[in-house]
Amino acid sequence: MSLDAGDRHAVPEVVMPTPPIHKVLSGQKALVTGANSGIGRGVAIALGRAGADVVVNYVAGDEAADAVVAEIRTGGGKAYAHKADVANETEVQAMFRKMVEELGTIDILVNNAGLQRDAPFDEMTLEQWNTVIGINLTGQFLCAREAVREFKRRGVVPSVSCAAGKIICMSSVHEIIPWAGHVNYAASKGGIMMMMKSIAQEVAPYRIRVNSISPGAIRTPINTKAWSTPEAYQRLMTLVPYNRIGEPEDIGRAAVWLASDNADYVTGTSLYVDGGMTLYPGFATGG
Ligand code: BGC
Repeated sequence: MSLDAGDRHAVPEVVMPTPPIHKVLSGQKALVTGANSGIGRGVAIALGRAGADVVVNYVAGDEAADAVVAEIRTGGGKAYAHKADVANETEVQAMFRKMVEELGTIDILVNNAGLQRDAPFDEMTLEQWNTVIGINLTGQFLCAREAVREFKRRGVVPSVSCAAGKIICMSSVHEIIPWAGHVNYAASKGGIMMMMKSIAQEVAPYRIRVNSISPGAIRTPINTKAWSTPEAYQRLMTLVPYNRIGEPEDIGRAAVWLASDNADYVTGTSLYVDGGMTLYPGFATGG
């Protein structure tokens, strides 16, 4: 039997999984960068629900950050917002110092802050290039380095976790899918992939786990144009075999699992959470 586009759209109604009910991260302290919107917000709330205390990093938008903090506190978790630019070494170091003062240590870093500055390649400015590399890649380096320093200093605390620390880098399907018009963004995500694997290799003997989540199209402000009209959504679905857009909660659940001891033997891997976007959907009917 061959599938044509008509069959692909005759799919059942979307049924979303319910949020995790087990407090698999209780007693753990997490920092999520860029946590006042989009995927970062979804991850921060999911970690809070799973029992972690959460630092909600953001760079602009105090009210949105406060709202995430309030939501985590409603569920009983400790949380506070911290404004810092992840591309600024001094601000990053101050953020980690404050976290150690406030919460005692860090167990989980979710390196999420990121942005797009799209342009045709021959029109891309150095500023657009540097901004994207600075925040998406250098920002992850600066935060990961501070986290590893604290993980090594503290070591494993068996009553908290089997690991001395966990880092989750927010990458993208564009760490492997080339993306015309977004060369700076794709380069930053490809860089994250090798940075993540190299750090993972280096720190595994200290029982520090480093992994990436590589989301596909998730309903967030970064890609509103790709899903906000029925025509755009329809076009987007030609790239998504699972035939629905991803939600921040999809990434939140993946992050909870990767950060928890349920994933204790998992390090140096990219977990694609993309509804099959990386499965070359064009080949479902061709080739
Ligand atoms: C980008 C989105 C895009 C998605 C799939 C993400 O990494 O930030 O803008 O919709 O990849 O292409």
